[in-house]
Amino acid sequence: MKDLKGIILAGGLGTRLAPLTKITNKHLLPIYDKPMIYYPISYLVDAGIHDISIVTGGNHAGDFLRLLGNGQAFGLSHINYTYQEGEGGIAQALSLTQYFSQGSRMIVILGDNILEKGIAPYVANFHRQEKGARVLLKEVSDPGRFGVATLEGNKITEIEEKPKNPKSNLAVTGIYMYDESVFEIIKTLKPSGRGELEITDVNNAYIRRGELEYDVLDGWWTDSGTFDSLLQANHLVAKKALLEKKKERKNGVLG
Ligand code: DAU
Repeated sequence: MKDLKGIILAGGLGTRLAPLTKITNKHLLPIYDKPMIYYPISYLVDAGIHDISIVTGGNHAGDFLRLLGNGQAFGLSHINYTYQEGEGGIAQALSLTQYFSQGSRMIVILGDNILEKGIAPYVANFHRQEKGARVLLKEVSDPGRFGVATLEGNKITEIEEKPKNPKSNLAVTGIYMYDESVFEIIKTLKPSGRGELEITDVNNAYIRRGELEYDVLDGWWTDSGTFDSLLQANHLVAKKALLEKKKERKNGVLG
């Protein structure tokens, strides 16, 4: 089997964070001591994925190149950049990476998703999965902000995008694993009410094929695309860094 490729979606105009996003791209804003985009890169590298593509857009795309260069400083063997005109949705941004993917399976991360423990165990599960797609779910207190999964037994039967009356508290996080048929599925999609090609429609297509698997994510998870969630992401990452420093100091003293 070919190596998995990594795709980080960092397009969109980040209008929910205006005026912060007037003079930079949302994914270059700080989360504690690093730019947001560093985090999804590290989750991919930690899961053994070293060949990645970043989809970005807007007026500040050149800043990604200045910040990330050829990616070697992050442990990447190859970094590819793709430009999304406008904000046609997550699935539209993903469709731009078909040339990069070259028939490989892929791990897709939304550039504003921040997590405590990384994705390595779930990527290992996807490696073992024969075909289809895999999503990561997380229990949340405000499911109406996300794609929400309905489970029957150990199967997802439906995902609803930002439902008014969520049928569960299981959010579909912005980490998606797809085989190469994802590009054929995207070609069949129609824009949603908000004028976007929705990733939830892609995942529902995999459900209809009987090919969507899932894991429930361990540790905390948040997006960072609103003022509240951006603040929350900063708090969580800072707390984690301080705990790690404390642990190191303790080990240093005792060891
Ligand atoms: O964070 C998880 C949620 O992300 C999922 O639960 C939802 O099902 C999914 O639709 C998405 O919801 P959001 O409305 O929060 O997505 P948002 O428009 O904020 O976009 C998230 C990231 O996707 C953004 O940081 C960059 C990328 N993106 C988004 C759009 C609309 C693109 O690269 N291009 C785009 O056109």
